[in-house]
Formats: sequence, structure tokens, C-alpha cells
Amino acid sequence: MTTRIVAIDGPAASGKSSVARELARQIGFDYVNSGAMYRAVTWHVLQRGINPADSNAVVRLLEESRIDCDLVQGDSRISIDGVDPAEHLRDDRVNEEVSRISSIPRVREILVTEMRGYAKDRDIVMEGRDIGSVVFPETPYKFYIDASPEVRLRRRIAQGHRDQIAARDRVDSSRRASPLIIAEDALVIDSSNLTIEGVVGEIIGRLKMKGMIIS
Ligand code: CDP
Repeated sequence: MTTRIVAIDGPAASGKSSVARELARQIGFDYVNSGAMYRAVTWHVLQRGINPADSNAVVRLLEESRIDCDLVQGDSRISIDGVDPAEHLRDDRVNEEVSRISSIPRVREILVTEMRGYAKDRDIVMEGRDIGSVVFPETPYKFYIDASPEVRLRRRIAQGHRDQIAARDRVDSSRRASPLIIAEDALVIDSSNLTIEGVVGEIIGRLKMKGMIIS
């Protein structure tokens, strides 16, 4: 079965999540938040008392954990060893360690397999850092959402989170395994002065141009 995949990448607090969720709703696709998967794994590592700097121990733990990825009303969910850590994904300690955990190549391999599983039999909008460049490089529907560092910091503060987004961006962009890059064929949208509706409108315009949406 050939399914359609809309890939949305971009740095922290660029508005990807709100845009991806709303886009998925409007075009009737399922929505997958790949960042939540890295966050869930990070929470699991911390919860088990494993040192996030010890990549061998992190990988060992993950290889013996059961990871279940699912959809609940069109929205991705992940549980590890039967626990869904949804409420903890934005905890300070998760914010602090997630970039380190997600730079471990084997961690990425394990989660990328799960991500590809979502697209096997359904159309999806997936957001993250490397969705267009590594996870689904063959999809023709790629977007990169950016915003100025000031706007992104303001947005994160307005959400009430303490989050060192500049530090995360540095690690995410400079790591060896699947760094945050703009895929060659992605449409870059600067959301600094746009509403969520505005960004979704631009994406839908592009999808129509590419013949994905008829009406
Ligand atoms: O806070 P924000 O929504 O911008 O980030 P997120 O999408 O929840 O992702 C959290 C972290 O997971 C990122 O800072 C990356 O380190 C990692 N991540 C990744 O490496 N690859 C992805 N496809 C998605 C997230």
C-alpha cells in the first residue's frame, strides 16, 4: 500500500507541533509527533536511574524494554514497558537530557523503525528534526518551519516551560547522527510573523500545487 507522508521539520519552538496537528486535522491524516517518542525514551531512561551520558547503558535498557507505538484518535502515543509517560514529556529533566539521548545512533535506529511503522498503512503528518532528510527521504511533501530565536524563546516562555531551546538546537544541529538540517527539496516557511492558520494555509497551498489535495 502506498501511503502519503507530510514531513515537517524545524528547530525547537518553531510552531511545528501546532501546525502539524492542525494540518493533519484539516487534511484528514493521522498526526505523529516524533519528538514525543525521543522524550518518552528519555523519561524512561531517567526513571530507571540510568546515566544519560552512558550510551551503552541507555542502549542496553532500550533493547530490553517493550516499546509500543499507537494512535489514539488520530494522535500518536508511545508507551514503554506498559507505561505511557504523556504527562512527563515536558518535565525539566526531560528537556535537559533529550538532545543527549537522541544523539545516540542506536536510539535513533530503534525509534525510526517505529516511525516508519506508522506510515505502513496510513497517511500521516509527522513532525521532528530529520523526518524529511532521514526518516522519509522519498516523500515529495517536505516542509521546514523556522522562526527567529527571539520569537521561539517567547513562544516557549508563553507555554510556561523552562527550556534551554538554544542549547538543544546547538546539540541537535551539530550531532553526527541525523542532525537538524533543511532537506534539499523542503519548502522553508518562516513562521515568525505568521499565525498557525497562516502556516497551515501555506502548506496546503503547496500540497495542492503538488496535486496531493484536489479541492
Ligand atoms: O520542544 P520541541 O517541540 O521543539 O522539540 P520536540 O519536537 O519535542 O523534540 C525534542 C527533542 O527530541 C529535540 O530537541 C531533539 O533532540 C529530539 N528529536 C530528534 O532528535 N529527532 C526528531 N525527529 C525529533 C526530536
